[in-house]
Amino acid sequence: MSTDPGGTLGELPLPSNAPGPAHSWWRDAVIYQVYVRSFQDADGDGVGDLAGVRARLPYLKRLGVDGLWLNPFYPSPHHDHGYDISDYCDVDPLYGDLAQFDRLVTDCRLLGLKLVLDMVPNHCSSSHPWFRQALAAGPGGPERARFHFADGRGPGGAMPPNNWRAMFGGPAWTRTVDPDGTPGQWYLHLFTPEQPDFNWREPAVAEEFQRVLRFWLDRGVDGFRVDVAAGLFKHPELPDSTDPEADERSRDSVNPLAWNQPEVHGVWRSWRALCDSYAARDGRERLLVGEVSVPTAAEQAAYLRPDELHQAFFFHLLTAPWEPGRIRQVVQEALRDLAGSGSTVTWVLNNHDQVRTPTRFAGPDPLAGAARAGAAALLMLALPGAAYLYQGEELGLPEVLDLTDEQITDPIFRRTGSRARVRDGCRIPLPWSGGESPFGFSPTDAAGAPWLPQPAYFAAHTAERALADPGSVWHLYREALQLRRGLPQLGEGTLRWLEAPDGVLAFERGERFVCAVNFADGPVPAPVAGTPLLASGPCPPGTLPAETAAWWVTGPDPG
Ligand code: NOJ
Repeated sequence: MSTDPGGTLGELPLPSNAPGPAHSWWRDAVIYQVYVRSFQDADGDGVGDLAGVRARLPYLKRLGVDGLWLNPFYPSPHHDHGYDISDYCDVDPLYGDLAQFDRLVTDCRLLGLKLVLDMVPNHCSSSHPWFRQALAAGPGGPERARFHFADGRGPGGAMPPNNWRAMFGGPAWTRTVDPDGTPGQWYLHLFTPEQPDFNWREPAVAEEFQRVLRFWLDRGVDGFRVDVAAGLFKHPELPDSTDPEADERSRDSVNPLAWNQPEVHGVWRSWRALCDSYAARDGRERLLVGEVSVPTAAEQAAYLRPDELHQAFFFHLLTAPWEPGRIRQVVQEALRDLAGSGSTVTWVLNNHDQVRTPTRFAGPDPLAGAARAGAAALLMLALPGAAYLYQGEELGLPEVLDLTDEQITDPIFRRTGSRARVRDGCRIPLPWSGGESPFGFSPTDAAGAPWLPQPAYFAAHTAERALADPGSVWHLYREALQLRRGLPQLGEGTLRWLEAPDGVLAFERGERFVCAVNFADGPVPAPVAGTPLLASGPCPPGTLPAETAAWWVTGPDPG
């Protein structure tokens, strides 16, 4: 699945979203998301770092993923844990330095792991030199043109320029103070005030990002996960939103004036051209995978035209309830609506912004949540397309729900006062080994405690225990990934739904491969006779127990 195209320049296929004779590695890759801050702390300050990521590459290789995506590790004041970048071409000292990064690139290459970075083009940090210059320069100058500065409305300009709300709560505008101490213009931020939005209508912004992309491409990365890829451009007149409260409540980018503007596609075309120019030079295809949070798969498809983003995360599985009808509908819509784009569906069950599956799928019974999460993983890994795993998913980690108000660091909590969407619970430092915190996350003589507290019950979820237990979630993921690599039916392709009892989803991939998931609360007859190749729980022949998924290759037993 992860074969690099080879050959000389003249023989290379043009990189394209369309399936071609040389298979593009990203079309059915399984990429592991590393939330650097919480993955592995090598220097003992209680925060993960690049040296920690490097040390754990053999673990990822053993798990069997095709590559890793690193959440932002650039210099940042960390108001949104790195999604507020103050220097796009360096490593935050908290995480290491450029030399450490270069060693990581080398090691990834040696192990055959793709390395994908996070790129954040919609906004930067209010500590970014450009924003500081803009504040210092005052209204009207080219420094302010790189952001959205505007005069306020009403007497003395005391009201924001429009009624937009920020996704993380509160108004989307913050008023500045002029160098002489008087209230000044307002600036736009779709997230927190510490994340001013760039003005992409200003050519200097596009030029700067070309420089930034080249900087990392020249260091050898395999691509970028593009943050807020439906953002960037705003309606040129910045008119009022018709439903600002809905804009604030929604996780999707629903304000049509602030998101999904047609001009954004030109940016993705230019980024794609740049990536393709690198591929044309050395035959290594570079990936652009977008966080395109638009309401429907059909709208997403517009971002996946052959000369735009290669992929976009398909988030509807990430938010779907544990209901067979809904999950089937979500899968069906994705396959239908993205089919024409030439891209493949990029499935996600967990990430650093969402409640982890064992908790999300639990309902009133936490044990059911764990079983459902395993079943969902087998379902996802059998679907046509690519998949992204989030660190700790392979350890069956639940969401940590008992953080105190003082422990919560998510700016959403600070800005809304609501725990409903708080994201710290899925970002707890990973438990690697041992029976107590820091569970091998930090060295034993670490000076700092893990930046978020690890609950005592993480002892049952350490990687050490998981690797030693052949029945663990870890082994389920590993075996599923191995079978994915080995079975030609899996990865890219199509699926065919099979007749199944109520509460069961069953589908066939290619020839003779069947995946079935039992959502019901009792066992059902298995859709296929014989022992499954792999199952998310004990699965006697001929039966598919409740909350269980299984894979079969049908037909005569070769043994
Ligand atoms: C999406 C990222 O996934 C999230 O973590 C971040 O807070 C926002 N973009 C803002 O950059």
